[in-house]
Order: sequence, then structure tokens, then C-alpha cells
Amino acid sequence: MNEAVGFLESELDRAVATFGQAVSGDNVVPIDAARSQATLRERERRFRQLLDALPAAVYTTDAAGRITYYNDAAAALWGHRPPLGTSEWCGSWKLFWPDGTPLPHDQCPMAVALKDDRAVRGMEAAAERPDGTRVPFIPYPTPIHDETGTLIGAVNMLVDVTDRKRAEDQQALLVRELHHRVKNTLATVQAIMGSTARAVDNIEDFKTALFGRIQSLSKTHLLLADEQRAVKFGDIVRSELDAFDDGSNKRVVLSGPEVPLTSQLAVSLGMAVHELTTNAAKFGALSVFGGKVEVTWSVTIDATRRTLSFDWVESGGPLVAQPLKQGFGSRLLAFVLPGQIQAKSRIDYAPDGIRMHCALPLPANPLV
Ligand SMILES: Nc1ncnc2c1ncn2[C@@H]1O[C@H](COP(=O)(O)OP(=O)(O)OP(=O)(O)O)[C@@H](O)[C@H]1O
Ligand SMILES: [Mg+2]
Repeated sequence: MNEAVGFLESELDRAVATFGQAVSGDNVVPIDAARSQATLRERERRFRQLLDALPAAVYTTDAAGRITYYNDAAAALWGHRPPLGTSEWCGSWKLFWPDGTPLPHDQCPMAVALKDDRAVRGMEAAAERPDGTRVPFIPYPTPIHDETGTLIGAVNMLVDVTDRKRAEDQQALLVRELHHRVKNTLATVQAIMGSTARAVDNIEDFKTALFGRIQSLSKTHLLLADEQRAVKFGDIVRSELDAFDDGSNKRVVLSGPEVPLTSQLAVSLGMAVHELTTNAAKFGALSVFGGKVEVTWSVTIDATRRTLSFDWVESGGPLVAQPLKQGFGSRLLAFVLPGQIQAKSRIDYAPDGIRMHCALPLPANPLV
């Protein structure tokens, strides 16, 4: 820290001068004056040490706003060490209002505190360092008066609120994401309801199909709600097929690497796997004892693209015939998923069991 004469020293000098006047009038022996001066200097040193040790940025100015002292935390917040005695109001390189508009130094909270001779509270600003980084902070400028009530300077503490701001931004982002997901989910439920209503003949079938689909959606959302880990493709498949797995390792066979998914991919693929599963249970391999569903998946990387491919292969079920009608399941695979997640799929209604191949692009950066 620069050893410049500052507010603290001025205070000391003033105290000593007052003391000197008092003692000279009373003709006190100089040795006492020297001892008192030494005591005051010692107090001053301790006071300065205390301020230097504070983790909060603290600085002082004289009545004209010239900086007379600052601690290391203030220098760290400002990103430089302004010269004492000439820098005015605030040691920040540049100042901004919270909305990013420039804040002239002579209008900063410290300047207001000194000009209006009042403590300023409830303000927020951002300091830009010479290296361009910005620190949002809350200032606490407070005027200081001598014993006659004359304004002699001010002290300011700057509280770095970067962490709080980051947490607020994060929270705002989460709220936006939540609105977005709720909106999407309601649109999805609406679409599912419409398509289910078109595909069934009676209210009982409508109820069963709609129940299953909404339950599947909520299972995916439950997986997404676990913030500790990303939803993986395997989780989606397992959450649908687990109910049919008899543990023999013959009815449901899954194999593939861990593939973390974005929430959008998880929801879309969750719906697709649900439709494949209910179809297998209604018409295919899972509708009879001894039937088998094998799901295998892999990720291929070429240049900048990552592609998730998966195969759904049924065997041991009833003889499969070419379908006469297209319901929600096949429409979802054929029309909805290509639009939603650019998934391309192909279903082969082979007599010994359906085979479906699906490929879709994954985000360039694998999720951790
Ligand atoms: N795993 C399967 N095994 C045998 N046939 C199947 C299988 N999946 C679908 N199909 C045939 O394809 C048809 C179309 O399936 P899709 O899922 O589109 O409609 P759905 O299941 O009949 O009705 P929805 O899906 O709207 O409830 C089915 O009616 C069935 O004949
Ligand atoms: Mg179906």
C-alpha cells in the first residue's frame, strides 16, 4: 500500500495538533507530548492494519472526495491501485449502473454522500477493471465529521455481489426453463389427447391409452428432475421396459453405452420408446409368453456430428402382418420425431417380429 498522507494520517495530525495546542498552553513537558504522539501513531498503525486485514473493500476520502486510503481488498476489486490524493470519489477504473449505462465518477454514490453530506444506502453499481472484467458491488458511503460537526471526509465499503448476481441469473434462467418446459408439456399433452381421441373407438380405450402416455411423460420428467445426473438414453428405455423384464435376461435385452440426453431429446425419445413398448405389449413380442425385445444403441462420431442410432428388434411374438392402419405410435415415429428432434426412423414389419431403426443427431458437446 502506498504510504501517502491520507485521511487516516490527517486525522492523526489533527489530533496531534489539537493535543500540541493544548499541551503548549499548559506548558507540559515535551517528553509527554512525544509519548502521546507515539501512542497515537501506534493506534493509527493498528487501525490501518485492521482495515488492511478486512476482506471487504474499504477506502476513505477527504471532504473534497480525494482518495486518502484504501485497503488491499479495494485494490483487488478495482483491479488497480489508484494514486492517493489525486483520484477522486472512487478508485474504480470505470463505473456503470446495474443496467450497464456509464456512471460518471462525480455522480457515484461516494460523490453523492459527500455532496449531500449523508450516508447513501440501497444503491448498486458495477466497477470495470482495467482488464475489462466487471464487478457488481453495493457501496456503503458514509460521511465523517470532526467533533465540531464539520465534514472532513467519508468512508466507503464496497461489497462484491458477483456470487449473488450469478445465483440470481441462474435462478432466472431456471424459471425461464421451467416456463418453457411447462408450456411444451401442456402442448404435448394436448397433442397426445387429440391424436389418442382420433385413434380409438370408445372412451375406455381412450382412457387407457391417454393414462399410459401421460404416465410415461411423467416418468421422463421424474428422471429429468434429478439434477445430480443427466438422463441417459438407457434410463429412458429401462423406465419403459422394466415392467416387462422378468429378470430372465431373455425377455428384455438392452445394450449400449451411456448416452446423456438434453431434456428435449429425453422427452421426445421417452414418448417414442413408450409407443414402441405399448405396441409390443398390444400386438408384438411382449403380448405373449416367450417373446423378446432387444434394444441396442450406439453413438457414431464423424467430423463434427454425433449421431445416436438405436435398433428395436422383437422376436418370439405372434406373426406380424403389414399394418392396415396408422395410429399415434407410427405417426409419432414417422412425422413428429423428424420435426422435433430430426430423428429418422424406419419400421420393418417382418413376420417374425418388427424391427425399427432410428438415428438422430446429438448435440456437438457431449453432456457431462
Ligand atoms: N410391435 C408390433 N408388432 C406387431 N404389429 C405392430 C407392432 N407395432 C405396431 N403394429 C401394427 O401397426 C399398427 C399401427 O401401430 P400404431 O402404434 O401406429 O397404432 P396403434 O397402436 O394401433 O394405435 P395407437 O398407437 O394410436 O394407440 C398397429 O395397429 C399394429 O397392427
Ligand atoms: Mg400404438
